Amino acid sequence: MPKNKNTPSQPTDSSQQSRKVALNMLLAVLKDGQSLSSLNYLSEKLQPRDAAFARMISFGVLRFYHQLVAQLIPFLKKPLKAKDLDVQLVMLMALYQVQHMRVPDYAVVDAAVKSMRKSKKQWAANMVNAVLRNFIRQQEAAGVEKFQTEEAEYSHPQWIIDRLKNDWPDSWREILKANNQQPPMTLRVNTQKISRDDYLTALSDTGINADTVAEMPSALILGEPRDVKQLPGFEDGWFSVQDAGAQLAAQILQPESADRILDACAAPGGKTAHLFELQSDINLTALDISESRLERVHENCQRLGFTPELIVADAIDTEAWWDGELFDKILLDVPCSASGVIRRHPDIKHLRRADDIEVLQQTQREILLKNWSLLKTGGRLLYATCSMFKAENEQQIAWFLEKMDDAKLIGAGEKAPGEVQKDTFSASIGIQLFPTGYTNDGFYYALLQKSAE
Ligand SMILES: C[S@@+](CC[C@H](N)C(=O)[O-])C[C@H]1O[C@@H](n2cnc3c(N)ncnc32)[C@H](O)[C@@H]1O
Repeated sequence: MPKNKNTPSQPTDSSQQSRKVALNMLLAVLKDGQSLSSLNYLSEKLQPRDAAFARMISFGVLRFYHQLVAQLIPFLKKPLKAKDLDVQLVMLMALYQVQHMRVPDYAVVDAAVKSMRKSKKQWAANMVNAVLRNFIRQQEAAGVEKFQTEEAEYSHPQWIIDRLKNDWPDSWREILKANNQQPPMTLRVNTQKISRDDYLTALSDTGINADTVAEMPSALILGEPRDVKQLPGFEDGWFSVQDAGAQLAAQILQPESADRILDACAAPGGKTAHLFELQSDINLTALDISESRLERVHENCQRLGFTPELIVADAIDTEAWWDGELFDKILLDVPCSASGVIRRHPDIKHLRRADDIEVLQQTQREILLKNWSLLKTGGRLLYATCSMFKAENEQQIAWFLEKMDDAKLIGAGEKAPGEVQKDTFSASIGIQLFPTGYTNDGFYYALLQKSAE
């Protein structure tokens, strides 16, 4: 496998520390079921370069986990016990670095063996040394690898492969491959503060390359990822980090002056803020079931200069929080499998289970039904997910349209505009963005209008 030329080369003294952080991140996800996005605190004490190195290894191992395990197993005399997951992960981290990063092989082996010697599992040091040396020797001799299972070939759990095969028989392979790519860092310019073109100039004045995305008027894709604090105007609220596909939500909902809008699953507030950026004169209620996540809506909107009304509540339990005034527009960015954003969150492959989908489907239906009754006649509701599964997307909307006589689909089967379109396959109902191109993750949108019955 060719090494990725964009990855950093071997960091110096602190590399051992960053590998330890990477190992702890992997254990937190794979053993304790924590999400990667909750683990930033683990790398906080590292220098930015070392934190990036730790992140690259942990994200990479989660991305290629199924494949790396399949590669490792033939080199083990006997399978490792569950309690030795850390030893296995040290070897997987090494296999990842050898194949996907510009770290010299000898340095990878040396770091893995040293980490075992320093641990309570010194018994494993010789084994790790022998396994890695064997792997490197044989890898050099072998040609292109043939994997025995789909899980290993595509590096996804079988249940995700099966669902995608069933839903997208012509493009499941491309989706799986795209999920294993590193996504770009994409910004959404806060056009209430600065125009996209002026911000592009500000970036270029700082020596930072970025590209526009056709028909996504606020989006800029950076040439390479950066710490947000190195970019001009972060504290002043000039931009947010948001995938281009996610930027379609506010564009489709089209907020207008004096609209009363409900964002019922709002946290961390990316789409909330974008609605304000398109039209600051709105009355927006941002609701989320999680208090800590809603706090992030507050922080994000404060930095950008917007003030939604914030409510911590279950969107289904409308009796508990609704003040009785109908909404002109509602955004339902419902909880979902997140199978469309796996390239950004490779931990999803490991944290989600096949039987989550039915539970999510039920929650999505209840949120949709209860919130529909809060919409004015003539009002519009946008149903959104970051899923690639039809069970959460067009099948939900087909069920809803069948059930509700006053619901009408707007722009049925329409394609998304512009550059996103290249990577977009129309769903039979609504818009399905595919993650198969570089510009955007996988999202689903269906815009519904309420008519007089
Ligand atoms: C896909 S995320 C929303 C992302 C957000 N719209 C954005 O663009 O930043 C889904 C959110 O729904 C929230 N959620 C899950 N179940 C909920 C419920 N029953 N009522 C309200 N919010 C819920 C989760 O806490 C999560 O923040």
